[in-house]
Amino acid sequence: MEFHYVTESPLATDADLLVVCTYGDPAKDGLVRHLDQSLGGHLLERAKAEDFTGKPGQVLYTDRNGNGRTRAIAVVGAGEMNGFEASKLRDVAAAAIRVARRAGARQVTIALPPVSPRQSDRVVQLAVEGALLGSYRFVKYRNDEAKKPDPIATVKITTERGKSAGKKPTPAQAKAMKAAIARAERVAAAVCHARDLINEPAAFATPIRMAEEAKALAKKHGLAVKIYTPAECEKLGMGMFLAVGQGSDQESRLIHLTYTPAKKAKRKIAIIGKGVTFDSGGYSLKPSQSMEDMKTDMSGAAAVIASLAAVAQLGSPYEVHAIAACCENLVSGHAYKLGDVLRAMDGTTVEINNTDAEGRLTLGDALTYARHKVKPDEMFDFATLTGACVIALGPHTAGVMSDHEALVQAWLAAARDAGEDMWRLPLQPKLKEQLKSGIADMRNTGERYGGAITAGLFLKHFARDTPWVHVDLAGPSSTPREIGAWTRGGTGFAVASLVEYLTR
Ligand code: BES
Ligand code: MN
Ligand code: ZN
Repeated sequence: MEFHYVTESPLATDADLLVVCTYGDPAKDGLVRHLDQSLGGHLLERAKAEDFTGKPGQVLYTDRNGNGRTRAIAVVGAGEMNGFEASKLRDVAAAAIRVARRAGARQVTIALPPVSPRQSDRVVQLAVEGALLGSYRFVKYRNDEAKKPDPIATVKITTERGKSAGKKPTPAQAKAMKAAIARAERVAAAVCHARDLINEPAAFATPIRMAEEAKALAKKHGLAVKIYTPAECEKLGMGMFLAVGQGSDQESRLIHLTYTPAKKAKRKIAIIGKGVTFDSGGYSLKPSQSMEDMKTDMSGAAAVIASLAAVAQLGSPYEVHAIAACCENLVSGHAYKLGDVLRAMDGTTVEINNTDAEGRLTLGDALTYARHKVKPDEMFDFATLTGACVIALGPHTAGVMSDHEALVQAWLAAARDAGEDMWRLPLQPKLKEQLKSGIADMRNTGERYGGAITAGLFLKHFARDTPWVHVDLAGPSSTPREIGAWTRGGTGFAVASLVEYLTR
């Protein structure tokens, strides 16, 4: 799929399909009205009959010839826009590309709603991302129709509708748009790579396979990579991380990728991902339904690994370390048990009162590893950590926890710009009480209420004084159905925010 920014009037385009994105009431959209007139009132008549009100994702399609050259016209709803909303722009472009695919179009023109010139390159970037993410499919294991290649060859994008349409873009404008499209292609490729890893069954995406993926990525993008075997992790004293994986026949792997900028780095940043390639719950076994989707429990690892490719391509002023603690949480004669006392890499002893609270054990040691080996100026972790976070915020929003005000605000700003919904939860210190153990320094699980926060507090113990942000993405890491630019399965959540934070 090839993207071009054009300034030709949508009315003069000769694509197979013209998709007009509209905010709310189509009768108020000048371009829709224009097309409606050339169709003798057919378009708005249909809108009325089909109750098309421009709600997000709503589609109005007609193959009546619109302007003499375009075969078909679709109007796609973007919903009411509250200022600049990145996620809505991605979603409407995703809806547009899906209409084009269903219509079998090869050449598509997408007319985005008019925007201020100051924002037009951001808008084009988001639209290209939306088109690529919305057309993502995971077809490796299918023999049927879905395997057929996409019919769409070229996509022209325009933000011009009024008087300026038809004017050639200035060289500066053309250059900015080219860069926006290239950036979008790299962000989308990273998101789709994360989705691929998440969607792979656990039988394929084992810790060793994840390490192999990281090595291949490092080779391709000139990153440094170090993989630690269980014996090497043992030497480092990572007793919590190793305990989680010890019940599985699949060996654990600690993955460490490094991007170093050409010029002296401004800061060192560590991004750490939970990489539980399958979470059965261990002896605190999950019921079947809760286990069904637990191949996605490595979404954090997928995000930090995949985003480093985009960071390498786009360049970053920071030295970036991606660390993924990969293991499988299973039941066997070797598995860790309730009542076990583990010794963490920093010496802390931890009593296990729930083997299903395994993510915090793997991350606790990964945070210590980052503090000792990288000594970062700031660190982030990304984890499908708690069902409680999904209960608190719903499935579209990640929970963000941190006591470092400036850092968390900078992170939330990047997430907002990237169009990923994240919301801060307090690291309420009173809840720390729940993690007291009668036999060790701590236990790994608190009570039911405040479960997302006690998990955050457990991690905070290991982050110590290093500025740190915890992102619980148990909700948005995967989706049971298509929503906007998300496709069923892994969403690649956090990749766009990471690239935004690390490269702007
Ligand atoms: N991987 C799960 C969390 C999860 C739940 C991710 C739903 C995605 C969707 C995590 O390891 C887990 O099992 N957490 C427990 C913690 C509890 C035992 C304190 C949970 O949320 O039930
Ligand atoms: Mn678990
Ligand atoms: Zn888990």
